[in-house]
Amino acid sequence: MGSALLEITNLDKRFETAKDTVQALRGIDLQVREGEFVTVIGPSGCGKSTLLRIIAGLDTDYSGTVRLGGAEIKGPGIDKGFVFQEHRLFPWLTVEKNIASDLSLRDKEVRRKVDELIELVKLKGFEKAYPRELSGGMAQRVSIARALLRNPKILLLDEPFGALDAFTRAHMQDALLEIWRTNKTTMILVTHDIDEAVFLANRVVILKPRPGEIRAVVNVDLPYPRKKATSSFQELRLNVLNQFEKVEELALTDGAGI
Ligand SMILES: Nc1ncnc2c1ncn2[C@@H]1O[C@H](COP(=O)(O)OP(=O)(O)O)[C@@H](O)[C@H]1O
Ligand SMILES: [Mg+2]
Repeated sequence: MGSALLEITNLDKRFETAKDTVQALRGIDLQVREGEFVTVIGPSGCGKSTLLRIIAGLDTDYSGTVRLGGAEIKGPGIDKGFVFQEHRLFPWLTVEKNIASDLSLRDKEVRRKVDELIELVKLKGFEKAYPRELSGGMAQRVSIARALLRNPKILLLDEPFGALDAFTRAHMQDALLEIWRTNKTTMILVTHDIDEAVFLANRVVILKPRPGEIRAVVNVDLPYPRKKATSSFQELRLNVLNQFEKVEELALTDGAGI
């Protein structure tokens, strides 16, 4: 794991609506090293998606600085891959065409890359299948492959397994770790699930709401592959849960007057 790939300094984000101003993020400082896997957790509305969208370059209206590979993020681009909760595949395109997106499979380089990605996400034999023929987990693997097509510097995943059942979810966590270890892509994954956050990450960032601020950062110094049933895993999980509960109490007291 090398130097800082992503550097966020004093990030503030407000939404001005007709009625009021929402301070979605305040004073966010975060550095992510090249090759690192960071998970972000926090209650609903604490600014997780807003943070990810800013890193993706989908929202450039903020104060503070956000740099990727030393350069300020000016907008979306091929150096950032994004995976949403719902797969967002084109229903009329096959798996391989969805992965190739706007590039042509007739191009030898594209064909090679798509085949490599299909191998990576373990969908060999499903190249010509349509999204309706896939399970939720398979469809999400296609969107991960699509996001990796142009070898992004960073892969951003916004609750990518949130819509999947617990069993599929556990499989997808294993699959994503394998992708990460093979591809060595830096990843930031947003989740509600504390087990998932601890299972995947080198570091867990816990956000608190209104305004969205970093409450704590927990290092997860456990070797991969991890076992959720071990005492060292449970100890770290409790550590994160403890911080998370403080955050939820804050969210509840804050919301009580509304
Ligand atoms: N486009 C928007 N306009 C106004 N408020 C917004 C907009 N997007 C998000 N917000 C507000 O910003 C806060 C953070 O939202 P979001 O980042 O979606 O939270 P999370 O992903 O953690 O659930 C919330 O209070 C939300 O209502
Ligand atoms: Mg969200």
